[in-house]
Amino acid sequence: MSTATENTSTEGATVEGSFTPKTLFKYNGHDMQEIYIAVKGVVYDVSAGRSFYGPSGPYANFAGHDASRGLALNSFDAECIRDFDQPIDDLKDLTPEDIDSLDGWEEHFQKKYPVVGTLVEN
Ligand code: HEM
Repeated sequence: MSTATENTSTEGATVEGSFTPKTLFKYNGHDMQEIYIAVKGVVYDVSAGRSFYGPSGPYANFAGHDASRGLALNSFDAECIRDFDQPIDDLKDLTPEDIDSLDGWEEHFQKKYPVVGTLVEN
């Protein structure tokens, strides 16, 4: 059913519904056609938003990554995005305003895109 299982690669680390930063990274719209992003530990299939997250889209940095910090800080700068070999951002330093912003975006993703799994450590 889900592309997450169909496309399990030789890396072998993708368990159904469960992505690590490394396995999520493949869903960046060029290694794989599908585009997934994580928000607060939940992975969404944002392929329908390819014009936003696809390789030449304004938010391409988020594709295949945890976008939580960028959404909290309203920034698509690279410094808000961790490399796929890093631990998951614990977001502990966010202010209440940042968390409000992040929660607003989370609601947007929940309404618009299907959930395909959760994000767990590499
Ligand atoms: C330069 C200023 C910006 C402009 C002109 C802009 C413009 C837009 C527009 C027109 C949309 C579509 C809204 C809709 O479909 O209703 C959008 C969506 C969005 N923007 Fe921006 N934006 C800007 C900055 C940012 C920044 C800094 C972020 C970083 C978090 C961001 C993240 C998003 C996201 C996540 C979406 C939703 C895409 C989706 O529905 O999947 N935008 N933006």
